[in-house]
Amino acid sequence: MEQYAMKGGVPLVGEVEIGGAKNAALAILAAAIMTDETVVVENVPDVRDTNVLMKAMESVGATVVKTDRHTVKINGYQIDNLVIDDEHIKKIRASYYLLGALLGKYKHAEVPLPGGCNLGTRAIDQHLKGFRALGADVRVEHGFVIAEANKLKGNHIFMDKVSVGATINVMMAAVMAEGKTVIENAAKEPHVVDLANFLNSMGANIKGAGTDVIRINGVNRLHKTEYAIIPDQIEAGTYMMAAAITKGDIMVKNVIPKHLECISAKLIEIGCEIEESDDAVRVVASKRLNNTQVKTLPYPGFPTDMQPQMTVTLGLSSGISIVTESIFDNRFKYVDELARMGADVKVEGNTAIISGVNKYTGASVSAPDLRAGAALVLAGLAAEGLTVIDDIKYIERGYEDFPEKLKHLGAHMEKVESDKDLRKFEMKIG
Ligand code: EPZ
Repeated sequence: MEQYAMKGGVPLVGEVEIGGAKNAALAILAAAIMTDETVVVENVPDVRDTNVLMKAMESVGATVVKTDRHTVKINGYQIDNLVIDDEHIKKIRASYYLLGALLGKYKHAEVPLPGGCNLGTRAIDQHLKGFRALGADVRVEHGFVIAEANKLKGNHIFMDKVSVGATINVMMAAVMAEGKTVIENAAKEPHVVDLANFLNSMGANIKGAGTDVIRINGVNRLHKTEYAIIPDQIEAGTYMMAAAITKGDIMVKNVIPKHLECISAKLIEIGCEIEESDDAVRVVASKRLNNTQVKTLPYPGFPTDMQPQMTVTLGLSSGISIVTESIFDNRFKYVDELARMGADVKVEGNTAIISGVNKYTGASVSAPDLRAGAALVLAGLAAEGLTVIDDIKYIERGYEDFPEKLKHLGAHMEKVESDKDLRKFEMKIG
């Protein structure tokens, strides 16, 4: 069983390069099949979720060729099947982006109901509402969402709640619909903007992405493009938090500082020093961190995908901190694992009350989901002694070369495949 093993207590120091944004890549890779011409996508992160999605695209006939680790050539012309039934696709959330892409291009799509991290109920009612508003007949049968339309017609759609996935999916379904579509109460995340820019580079006509009103004029067809994905805001934030929790000094390179503003502001609030340049952010933490209050919100608010990493960092700060999760209804499952490392966190509904402790001690813990798994790695890097993390497949869904990048920053960490490997690691670190 693959595990991460680490011995904490070492301040992380040095430079780390951030890869392409997973949540932009998943939308852009799906949208790439909307033209019959060849699309080249650069800066695609080499993580499980993107690789599973590309396999599913190939399974319906798309040509998907990696010309290097992070560059993919895609051509949707050969697609001959609109039923996505790849066994792996059910495991990832972003499978539903193929609904919007196939419906938008072929006016028909059959895709399994999405899987993904268990963060509570993860409804897709807003996606279906958007597709129906564009004229599609949408039904759920045998665990599949089936969407079809003779034609798609633009409409004025009010999202009942801000949803990244629904905003992205409806945008894809609308780009080749007849007439104008307006999406109100749209998500404003950087990856929504990245998808809009990608589609516009293919000849779409989308305005207002990044605001809460997106206006789309349908076009007849989309054409080839070459496009590079933006850096990953959450990967960057995770390494920024790694500097804070280990009292280190990390230069996080290849980022868009504007996308990190809320994270930087919170780190300054708890006592870190932040230096920003055009494409890098340096985080220095030299003393015990202060407590604070955090509430997760849609962008540009504090990202829910940084909530676990913030909570484990505040678990070592002085005083009482409060973290409120306003996006998902069950995103504190990792707190039980953190308690095994000595954290003092009480969860009441969607609020965590954190009493800062002086130290964490290493323990065996399991990653309950992607970002919580990354947060437990951060806790292990700060803890005294050995930490072993199970279920790292969740973490590898969204972090490329996580152990390698952390070791480059001075972490005593290995990915172990057996008890023998673990014993070797224990002997090595003493
Ligand atoms: C995307 O999930 C991301 N995943 C998530 O990142 C991220 O946490 C989330 O956006 C919020 O930023 C991908 O992009 C693949 P939502 P998504 O639709 O689209 C409810 C990670 O760690 N909702 O914005 O599923 C929903 O239940 C992952 O990379 C409805 O009720 O998020 C949730 O409570 C984890 N009806 C809230 O809205 C709907 O139709 C926000 O969900 C859609 C959503």
